[in-house]
Amino acid sequence: MTSPVRVSSLTGAKAQPHLDDLARLRIEVFRDFPYLYDGSLDYERRYLDNFSRSDGSVIAVAFDGDRVVGAATALPMADEPDYITAPFRARSYDIGTIFYFGESVLLRPYRGTGIGVRFFEHREAHARSFGTYRWAAFCGVDRPPDHPLRPADYVPLDRFWQKRGFVRHPELVSHFSWRDLGDDAETEKPMVYWLKQLT
Ligand SMILES: CC(C)(COP(=O)(O)OP(=O)(O)OC[C@H]1O[C@@H](n2cnc3c(N)ncnc32)[C@H](O)[C@@H]1OP(=O)(O)O)[C@@H](O)C(=O)NCCC(=O)NCCS
Repeated sequence: MTSPVRVSSLTGAKAQPHLDDLARLRIEVFRDFPYLYDGSLDYERRYLDNFSRSDGSVIAVAFDGDRVVGAATALPMADEPDYITAPFRARSYDIGTIFYFGESVLLRPYRGTGIGVRFFEHREAHARSFGTYRWAAFCGVDRPPDHPLRPADYVPLDRFWQKRGFVRHPELVSHFSWRDLGDDAETEKPMVYWLKQLT
């Protein structure tokens, strides 16, 4: 059965009304392993500021009726801060040819019906529409396999990402800081990049 959920790509000013929804979804969905993110509105504000300053950004929003149940973001990597571009610069990538895919966050009851696939299709279509981007890139947190909070039934998204045409690049790593559930302060986590050639 086709999912009744509608996915729309919104850019520029049209994205603005949904940034609070994105913050809410990020805080809710990233509490789970492997992110274990103890979200705060202050952290979200800093994060969303950067996103909303980018002219080339897009947010794919999943609507069930009027309710926002998921979202995925993307923006030119050139609009990202140094700690994200650094591993690419160190390996002589042309930053101007990379489109950076931020998060995909979808409420649990809506998973497994193809919305995550549509999030990739929307972001890739947006990146290709410029005609100048050679790569799509995103990163995922690298938690140790014996992490104490790893659920016994946890299924990594690696196969899902491989099926979307992305390849893991363990040589490309950034460190993102956030506060894990149960911790008092932010700690750095290694984030490993995945790339797909667009052209
Ligand atoms: C990542 C995430 C958005 C994926 O969303 P999803 O909607 O469950 O993913 P999909 O349903 O599109 O794809 C999952 C699989 O179900 C399949 N599928 C199941 N039912 C389907 C249907 N009715 N139509 C199409 N595909 C369907 C897809 O083909 C896909 O299988 P494949 O990879 O073998 O092709 C979701 O798992 C999530 O929010 N996770 C938590 C946050 C996270 O870790 N995000 C990633 C890092 S930012």
